[in-house]
Amino acid sequence: MTSVTPTAVDKLPLRHLRRGKVREVYEVDDERLLLVASDRVSAFDVVMNERIPHKGAVLTQLTAWWLRQFAATVRHHMLSANADEIISMLPALAPHRATIVGRAMLCMRTDVFPVECVVRGYISGSAWKEYRAHGTLAGEALPAGLEESSRFPSPLFSPATKAEVGHDENITFERMASMIGDSEAAELRRLSLLVYERGRAIAAERGIIIADTKFEFGQGRDGRVTLIDEVLTPDSSRFWPADRYAPGRSQPSFDKQPLRDYLDAERRAGRWNGEAPPPPLPDEVVHATSTRYLDAYRRITGHTLTTEST
Ligand SMILES: Nc1ncnc2c1ncn2[C@@H]1O[C@H](COP(=O)(O)OP(=O)(O)OP(=O)(O)O)[C@@H](O)[C@H]1O
Ligand SMILES: [Mg+2]
Repeated sequence: MTSVTPTAVDKLPLRHLRRGKVREVYEVDDERLLLVASDRVSAFDVVMNERIPHKGAVLTQLTAWWLRQFAATVRHHMLSANADEIISMLPALAPHRATIVGRAMLCMRTDVFPVECVVRGYISGSAWKEYRAHGTLAGEALPAGLEESSRFPSPLFSPATKAEVGHDENITFERMASMIGDSEAAELRRLSLLVYERGRAIAAERGIIIADTKFEFGQGRDGRVTLIDEVLTPDSSRFWPADRYAPGRSQPSFDKQPLRDYLDAERRAGRWNGEAPPPPLPDEVVHATSTRYLDAYRRITGHTLTTEST
């Protein structure tokens, strides 16, 4: 069960379209959206009550950094992730600079393809569960004898439906093609694999394994396939510390491990049943998690995130 703890949204003078677990989506006009990443954090599908300082800025600025790396490879939706630039395009946001700085991205609005474009470089999560039970992924056979977290010889494109409620369902490429069209499906697969392979090579040089990730694409107002949403962030991907990698077990999470360890201990102690409402988080856990997000940003981009530099 997904749960969203209500919090006061700093009201922006824009129509609020949607609240996700982590992000708020605002309409600017028919052609543009403003995505604002909060400092909310979820673990085991439950959104915590505490905020993780800088997390929203890390998600937005890491996406922006990746999109700049891939600009020649794929058309993407970003217009700006710089607060002053955004305000110069949307002066009504000037009084709300503190709310958007670092965490907001002004985007081209698209018609979203209703498919999560998952790429898996390593077998983990729902793919591992299905493989362990049936030897398959989305019903299709995988090689025998894979261990948990082992690396696939080459990354697998593993689409899923976008479930409004409950968990996404892994689907075959054929099913995806029947939903959105053969050539669109082939193009989304090509771009997903290309961006993932380039991204994971960059991250691997910097000590982070991107085990898998989820992309979203939309059709722009000009009809072109466009990479949207967040890209290769810890929230849309599994980041593993490369120096701790060992197949045959689940891997620690680069970003959320302190949080997961704490929640596991609370569960084992019988103080939490694993569902909303979450237990309160000690300051050390909040701080350790914030540090991990900032570290992921610094390692991948080579720069320290400073909100004012955005
Ligand atoms: N350029 C774009 N055009 C249209 N829709 C977009 C664009 N970029 C992102 N979106 C949509 O914005 C929404 C982001 O909100 P979403 O509910 O996914 O937030 P979230 O914080 O990721 O939460 P959750 O964990 O529940 O997915 C998604 O539905 C995504 O498809
Ligand atoms: Mg989302």
